[in-house]
Amino acid sequence: MDIRGLGYVTLLSRDLAQWRHYASQVLGMMVSAGSDDDQRLYLKMDDRHYRLLVQKSTEDGFGACGWEVAGKAAFEQAILELQEADVQVERGTAAEAGVRKVQELVRFSDPDGNRHELFWGPLQDFARFVSPVGVKGFVTNELGMGHVVLPAPSFARCRDFYEQVMGFGLSDLMKVRFTEDLAEPEKAIHFLHCNNARHHSLAIFEYPMPHGCVHMMVEVNALDEVGRALDRVHANGVKLSATLGQHTNDQMISFYIKTPSGFDLEYGCDGLVVDWDRHTPFESTVVSHWGHDFSVGRP
Ligand SMILES: [Fe+2]
Repeated sequence: MDIRGLGYVTLLSRDLAQWRHYASQVLGMMVSAGSDDDQRLYLKMDDRHYRLLVQKSTEDGFGACGWEVAGKAAFEQAILELQEADVQVERGTAAEAGVRKVQELVRFSDPDGNRHELFWGPLQDFARFVSPVGVKGFVTNELGMGHVVLPAPSFARCRDFYEQVMGFGLSDLMKVRFTEDLAEPEKAIHFLHCNNARHHSLAIFEYPMPHGCVHMMVEVNALDEVGRALDRVHANGVKLSATLGQHTNDQMISFYIKTPSGFDLEYGCDGLVVDWDRHTPFESTVVSHWGHDFSVGRP
């Protein structure tokens, strides 16, 4: 399956007004036309109409990853490959494609029930990205809109699904404990790339998460933008989940904050781009070179 990138992400929220404020005033995204606080918000990060679609729901949580393929032929081929692997695939209606502003989409889930969509042909309005708080730009385009880390308690089944059915490659891996206690079982995190140079567009974590997502990441184009965003986090009273730090594997300099949908968002810069022909996966035994104190986010 030839997935070119993470095209969009959908989220669920009981309070779209809260998301509107958070996305525009803290993250620095634009709220695009067609948004209203009773149905959905289109959050713009670049030339596309939106990259984040927040849908009004009776629950707060993650919705789905929207994976982009190269066109109609690649789309039909991907559906065949999913069906050959006994994955239940549901074609989206024209109305659903209309809401997502794509030509066509299908829906399916991984072995742990994480939801995915596959689409081709996004609508592109080419309206300029003008951040309401002066963010100069997000790193998207051929790298996709960022990355998502999903809970995968059935780890081996999920790993096989992503690598063998969806065609992701292993970028590298970690095994972590929440405590210093060596008796605590290690939990695996596998970082996975699709057909672009972003270090990972997806990662899977061997642990259940209440809101259906460990975190999602958006990347800005300078360290200055990360620092300014951190100022806005504090000014708006947003809960920090981890302090500023630099990851060992993708070298991202980032902080983590709570989203109104309950899971975390990583906001960073300088993520690694990789030539996969020259890369070999490794296991990192530490998460970060410096910083990323997650204890600040624990109750
Ligand atoms: Fe991340």
